[in-house]
Amino acid sequence: MTISGTNAVVVQRGDYKVPSYQISEIALDLRLDPENTEVSACLHFQCTATAPVTELHLDGESLELLSLQRDGRTLAEHEYRLTDAGLVLLNPPESFVLESRVRIHPAANSTLSGLYHAGGQFLTQCEAEGFRRITYTLDRPDCLARFTVTLHAPQKNCPVLLANGNCMATGDEEDGWHWARWEDPYPKPAYLFAMVAGDLAVVRDQYRTASGRDVVLEIYVAERDTGACVQAMDSLKRAMHWDEEVYGREYDLDRYMIVATDSFNMGAMENKGLNIFNAKYVLASPETATDNDYQGIESVIAHEYFHNWTGNRVTLRDWFQLSLKEGLTVFRDQEFSADQNSRGVQRIDDVRRLRAAQFPEDAGPLAHPVRPDAYSEINNFYTATVYEKGAELVRMIHTLLGKAQFRQGMDLYFQRHDGQAVTIEDFVAAMEDANQRDLSGFRRWYGQAGTPILRATGSYDPARHSYTLTLRQETPATPGQPVKEPVPIPVRMALLNTQGQRVPLNGTDRESILLLEQTEQSWTFDNLPDPVIPSLLRGFSAPVRLESPLDDDARSFLASHDDDPFNRWESIQDLAVKALLATVADASLASLPSALRHAVAATLGDAQIDPAFRAELLSLPSEDYIGEQMPVIAVEAVHHARDSLMRTIGMQFVPEWMGLYHDLAATYQRDGLSIGRRRLRNLALSYLIAGDHEGHEGMALYARQQYAQADNMTDRLAAFQLLVQHRHHDAEDILLDFYRRWHEYPLLIDKWFAIQAATPRPETLRQVEHLLVHPAFDWRVPNRVRAVLGGFAANPTVFHAADGSGYAFYAEQLRRLDDLNPQTAARLATPLSRWQRYDAPRQQAMGEALKMLAGKPKLSRDLAEVIQRSHP
Ligand code: PHE
Ligand code: ZN
Repeated sequence: MTISGTNAVVVQRGDYKVPSYQISEIALDLRLDPENTEVSACLHFQCTATAPVTELHLDGESLELLSLQRDGRTLAEHEYRLTDAGLVLLNPPESFVLESRVRIHPAANSTLSGLYHAGGQFLTQCEAEGFRRITYTLDRPDCLARFTVTLHAPQKNCPVLLANGNCMATGDEEDGWHWARWEDPYPKPAYLFAMVAGDLAVVRDQYRTASGRDVVLEIYVAERDTGACVQAMDSLKRAMHWDEEVYGREYDLDRYMIVATDSFNMGAMENKGLNIFNAKYVLASPETATDNDYQGIESVIAHEYFHNWTGNRVTLRDWFQLSLKEGLTVFRDQEFSADQNSRGVQRIDDVRRLRAAQFPEDAGPLAHPVRPDAYSEINNFYTATVYEKGAELVRMIHTLLGKAQFRQGMDLYFQRHDGQAVTIEDFVAAMEDANQRDLSGFRRWYGQAGTPILRATGSYDPARHSYTLTLRQETPATPGQPVKEPVPIPVRMALLNTQGQRVPLNGTDRESILLLEQTEQSWTFDNLPDPVIPSLLRGFSAPVRLESPLDDDARSFLASHDDDPFNRWESIQDLAVKALLATVADASLASLPSALRHAVAATLGDAQIDPAFRAELLSLPSEDYIGEQMPVIAVEAVHHARDSLMRTIGMQFVPEWMGLYHDLAATYQRDGLSIGRRRLRNLALSYLIAGDHEGHEGMALYARQQYAQADNMTDRLAAFQLLVQHRHHDAEDILLDFYRRWHEYPLLIDKWFAIQAATPRPETLRQVEHLLVHPAFDWRVPNRVRAVLGGFAANPTVFHAADGSGYAFYAEQLRRLDDLNPQTAARLATPLSRWQRYDAPRQQAMGEALKMLAGKPKLSRDLAEVIQRSHP
């Protein structure tokens, strides 16, 4: 696609060069003013190159240079040059001190990258390349410096002044200003720098490390939110303890600070000693947050804490290594959550997320390896592939080596690389060297994009009493990688007899990990007097698409007998997908096939199953997931098929659902069992409402009652969502009521917006247009924009409306957003990249939407790259 006026530089992984200078110290002095902030920086440079350097390029963006001195002398014009990308020092000496003064404009900074002023606070966001928007510097992760930061601000608006490390001194100034000086003893790359100034209340606690050091824990929030930090603080302490227990890693500063803000592009940021969080991942009370919100807080708090070792103490050589910290840290937070809650349910949720976001990415034009080869805007590579698939690769190493060996590899990794900026290769090498293992084949996973297809066939030989399993792999081509090599795939497996017991596999083990390294390999298991049913890819032991050899009866059997929770769930899902695809192909087949009916009945009838897991088993696959299984996604037919299966299951099991709904009623508690019970009960309600005959509103009465009387937000919101999405006659009143009750809680108003935008009704487009001019809508707040636009794009029948109205509307909004916040605009644009998956008229309409965006004046580099790669 031709894009007007872009000359984006493409950065290639192979072009990496060690920096010719290092900066040992950075002293910053900021006079904070929303309109005009002055930043003085003093940087100590040392040459590390052997040959003389004639030009030293410093990064700088949107900076107004006020003065520039080297070793105390103002630089003459022939000694430097200003460019679009920063500042070039000409013939610099071997070592020197550079002092610069620049002016920046925090209130006008709507990109939320660099230093910005939002909601009355000053905040920074420097990953990946935000620090260059604060001062001229070597803004690259392999340049580690010791930071000293002095903040000046008016005492009244900004009583709290924070930066990384330790607070060394504070004082008052004239005109009601004050200052604070912070020092971080650990050298760090600029992307981990942070400062915060504002009127914040603090919730304080303490943690004693395994070696007996006391750490002060602080969470900074608005005064009225101090009661909503219990889950965040508790999760932090549990995460600190877990990292000591499982990895032997302690926290290394005396103070750990977390700041919550409503204005943030991502989930949270692991700045050294001073994490900045999207408020969504900090604030929760039973009345204002759902069980899922609590779960999200636990995992993101842990994720950022774990970065202190995997990311901060050991950091990245360059941005192509992003998964070195993100994949590894996601793996760590997933394992933490699995240890805190139910391992089986956690795994199901993780795989669901991988399949919802990463599989489609890997199958479309934006596919890239976990370690990408090129980028034009690094912000576009904070993807499900780098994060979630990256975590799966670490998990496979863990599976292949074993728990104790993996830990030895981690120990060696930290021992070798503490304080360094390293590569994915260094990580894999540590795993190998600590265990004398060869992972050379495994490295292909990092460089090869695309989701492998794993085809399994098996046969039982009654004469030989043996079972032979054949596995084949194939990875479809992806952009720039037409030919794929086989990758080593660990397939955890067992064979079940007709009683559902695992049988010994050529020895005493009843579970085994087969390693498929070639395109095709076979395994034979002997001494099997009776036929067996294979349970393959247990725990989802590799990020592949499994084409299973099982027929419906075998699946139904596994759905109630497999002792691997993931595979048990997967078996029901497979049955449901199959039934749904049959209905999609022929709507008159809308029925409940007997294998699926048996599986549902068995699950409904088995009160022994943990309620959270039972809820997973009984949840139908999403429309997106069903669509993913089709060559061309039939948007409407998928929607109707799923609706009708919900209705059928709802109707056929009314007494069971009703029983669950009544039996599981309870006063609110926050333990795991209660959470599972709420989940199952709300699922029952959704089936009851789906199964209600047209026009008859008996079940909606339950929802209305639940909405009005719930003693917690999980139940209230579940009922609210059902009433709004089914458009019950008083949905309008309920929307108004919700708004009136919760308008002072931004996170709940986000949900209020999102649920409306996700309503599968023809009139939704018009309503979303109204939402965009609602007084509570704010283009500058990403959470709000994502609620409406993200909710809309996740609404299959409305976003993909056959007349293309959804796409045209959406592109129009992205065009507007791009001027304010390119990073968020580019991220929201990715659903348009999936155009090849739809029918010809939709392809055409999505192409036009992309073309319209491509022609936008002042198109950001972020959005330009997404469009370019989406539609080359
Ligand atoms: N590094 C953050 C994390 O995953 C994500 C992030 C990236 C936040 C870029 C802000 C900007 O923990
Ligand atoms: Zn991270």
